[in-house]
Amino acid sequence: MANWNIIPPQSAEHWEKLYELRYRVLRKDWNQAPGSEIAPDDDEAIHAIVFSNKRQVLACCRAHRSGDAQIQLRYMAVDPAFRGYGLGKALLKYIEKVGADRYEPVHQIILHARENAVPFYERNGYDVISPSHVLFGTIQHFLMMKTLV
Ligand SMILES: CC(C)(COP(=O)(O)OP(=O)(O)OC[C@H]1O[C@@H](n2cnc3c(N)ncnc32)[C@H](O)[C@@H]1OP(=O)(O)O)[C@@H](O)C(=O)NCCC(=O)NCCS
Repeated sequence: MANWNIIPPQSAEHWEKLYELRYRVLRKDWNQAPGSEIAPDDDEAIHAIVFSNKRQVLACCRAHRSGDAQIQLRYMAVDPAFRGYGLGKALLKYIEKVGADRYEPVHQIILHARENAVPFYERNGYDVISPSHVLFGTIQHFLMMKTLV
């Protein structure tokens, strides 16, 4: 396992590798067009990457304000070769902290989880609120929420 740090993307190299990972994990298998991994409000959100000593982006996620005292997490992706090592959990903890600090006060964190990721978020303190949208005609999502005390 490579050595890694969690950092905000800070250079063209970071952004290029972040979007490559997003596309590969969250778009490619559903035949989505290149460019569909870029969200129009990415420049207003805060972002974090897991960056390795081999200059790879191993995981990425972002947070933005989604309501009064509420933030939303989107685009969580861990490279398939590096899953199960705790990177997703560490990145989630980091983005929750920097998101809560940046958009203070934050009382709730919400996200729309792909069905396969629901157990991951449940293990990290999120509850399913309700089914939400179906992406690309096949991927059922669930609205999940964590309340901060
Ligand atoms: C879901 C995902 C982010 C998890 O990342 P990861 O780095 O493999 O997860 P971690 O190794 O940090 O696991 C953290 C905990 O969640 C559990 N977990 C992770 N994935 C799980 C799964 N699919 N089912 C059940 N438990 C899971 C782990 O066992 C671990 O439990 P522990 O804290 O008791 O040891 C990753 O699999 C992924 O990128 N999936 C594809 C993209 C995706 O679905 N993104 C979410 C979009 S909403």
